Amino acid sequence: MSKEVQNYKKDELGISYDPKICTHSANCVNKLPEIFNIENKPWVNLNNATKEKLALAVKNCPSGSLKLINENTKAEHNKMVEIKLSSNGPLLVNGNFRLVNHDGKILEAKNKVALCRCGASDNKPFCDGTHNKIDFKN
Ligand code: SF4
Ligand code: FES
Repeated sequence: MSKEVQNYKKDELGISYDPKICTHSANCVNKLPEIFNIENKPWVNLNNATKEKLALAVKNCPSGSLKLINENTKAEHNKMVEIKLSSNGPLLVNGNFRLVNHDGKILEAKNKVALCRCGASDNKPFCDGTHNKIDFKN
């Protein structure tokens, strides 16, 4: 699958998916299989979607991979940053933050990201779900 951000739109509905930061938690496919199904092409089908369902998918996505298109993020921008240690998994960062590389390059300027805590991700500093494969416990 391409690593480019994918945009899906239908009428007033729109959602984007960033595969580079997805932790493969499968929350989207498990909770809303009528919209997210990796057996289908494309894997996102907005025919059965509503604004509420898409908002729920974004809320439940721990990595920030899923984002509403045209989302008004003003409210999020004032949110204090919360860093949560997920059980046996990544650091879940939520709020208004910038993730800056050692050379000053901004890696992420979003309001949600999952950072690897097990040390085994192939996509550091982001979690790519490898903690499940290595049975990380912490
Ligand atoms: S991180 Fe988000 S997009 Fe990736 S599988 Fe989980 S819920 Fe879906
Ligand atoms: S915490 Fe998920 S890959 Fe390391």
